[in-house]
Amino acid sequence: MLLLCSALPRAVKDFIHERGVDRVNGRRLIKRLRRLAAFHVTDDLPYAAAQRVIPGGVNSPVRAWKRLGGNPPLIARGTGATVIDLDGRRYVDYVLSWGPLLHGHAHPRVLRAVAAAARRGLGFGAPTTGETELARLLCTALPSMQQVRLVSSGTEACMSALRLARAATGRRLTIKFDGCYHGHADHLLVAAGSGCATLNTPDSAGVPAAMAALTLSVPYNDADAVAAAFRRHRGRIAAVIVEPVAGNMGLVLPRAGFLASLRAQCDAAGALLVFDEVMTGFRVAWGGAQTLYDVKPDLTCLGKIIGGGVPIGAYGGPRRIMQQVSPAGPVYQAGTLSGNPLATAAGLATLEILRESGAYEKLESVSGRLASGLAIAAEKQGVPITVNRVGSMLTVFFTRTSGSLVRNYDEAVACDTAAFARFFHAMLDEGIMLPPSQFEAWFVSLAHDADAIALTLAAAERAFARVAG
Ligand SMILES: Cc1ncc(COP(=O)(O)O)c(C=O)c1O
Repeated sequence: MLLLCSALPRAVKDFIHERGVDRVNGRRLIKRLRRLAAFHVTDDLPYAAAQRVIPGGVNSPVRAWKRLGGNPPLIARGTGATVIDLDGRRYVDYVLSWGPLLHGHAHPRVLRAVAAAARRGLGFGAPTTGETELARLLCTALPSMQQVRLVSSGTEACMSALRLARAATGRRLTIKFDGCYHGHADHLLVAAGSGCATLNTPDSAGVPAAMAALTLSVPYNDADAVAAAFRRHRGRIAAVIVEPVAGNMGLVLPRAGFLASLRAQCDAAGALLVFDEVMTGFRVAWGGAQTLYDVKPDLTCLGKIIGGGVPIGAYGGPRRIMQQVSPAGPVYQAGTLSGNPLATAAGLATLEILRESGAYEKLESVSGRLASGLAIAAEKQGVPITVNRVGSMLTVFFTRTSGSLVRNYDEAVACDTAAFARFFHAMLDEGIMLPPSQFEAWFVSLAHDADAIALTLAAAERAFARVAG
């Protein structure tokens, strides 16, 4: 029985475990195995089953390891800085649900808040105090925000903020930056980094040329290119949207003065400056990148951390602009589950944890140790890399020569993605889960303690040796 059990899929093991070995008779076990066989036919059982019923086996493209080779494990659960797959393998996790889990997986305070909210009801389609509380907290934390509208994803937040910007200015065009991702709304899938960069589909099929033509994309960190676009399209630019720290071409920092220049140029041209802080909001600092760099946008988009791991998005700004949103004003935007009580409860609990003294100092020190340790480990093995980091976000770029900088999309895509793929798999073998693309940021959480970092750095030294060899 033991031998048989070790060869069985986890779902069957669970079935036997739940009922007790002596209560599982042969016929019931065979019946159970037959049902499972309908889904599990190859060695990669659960992923093959997913691929049969979900396009590519994933519900967001970058979760598939298309450019890396191999298949992603299905994750059964997470705790603190660790995720555990269906076979019980543990990994130190730097994906963290793509950023929201700044407190780590399954934080007890967040779980308690969500459970309490769920007991009161999963949603009402009517206003709740949780929405007001979260909105008030966001408006207090973000210097540019007097009013905010909660939505259900970062995509919705960016799409809606730009609709509002077009309405507020009476103009049609948006300037964005190559390699910045603002969700998958039609007019924003232009040079959109991240999954698009990884999959080499900078423009999606199905996006009408007329929609894409509403967006001009210029190089990140290039204030002159922005000035040229403003000159060429004088009086027609509604907004400039930017990731104030870019996270979707790998992590790229704004050059000194870049964000301030965007502020000045928007003011001079009568356009709105939109900071997409879906990733950076509450990650790089309490109050986001606008606080860290002291530049005030007109509108801010949020997501990820403000929902603590439950789907959410938000956009906000000064009252005079936000009052144009329906039903206060003429800009229509709505959502059945917007401001959902589970999301507001998880978000509020998360932000409370972050507000506690020392959270950002701890994140800074742990992330700094990780980044410098990675640089030292790579140098020891003779692998050229550059580590870009702001707070608890970082990317290890496999540059072609040591000392090369990565300041924009062109410099990011010039990196050695084959070396990254070797490193990724070597780290996975060592029990470290990295974001599966050269063009993504690693996320560090409050649950990443000294042991997790030490484990990661020891693994990285061996992984760099494999890259070098
Ligand atoms: C900067 C940025 N904006 C917008 C989005 C879209 O958010 P969502 O995936 O919640 O739609 C993302 C997602 O990663 C993002 O990183």
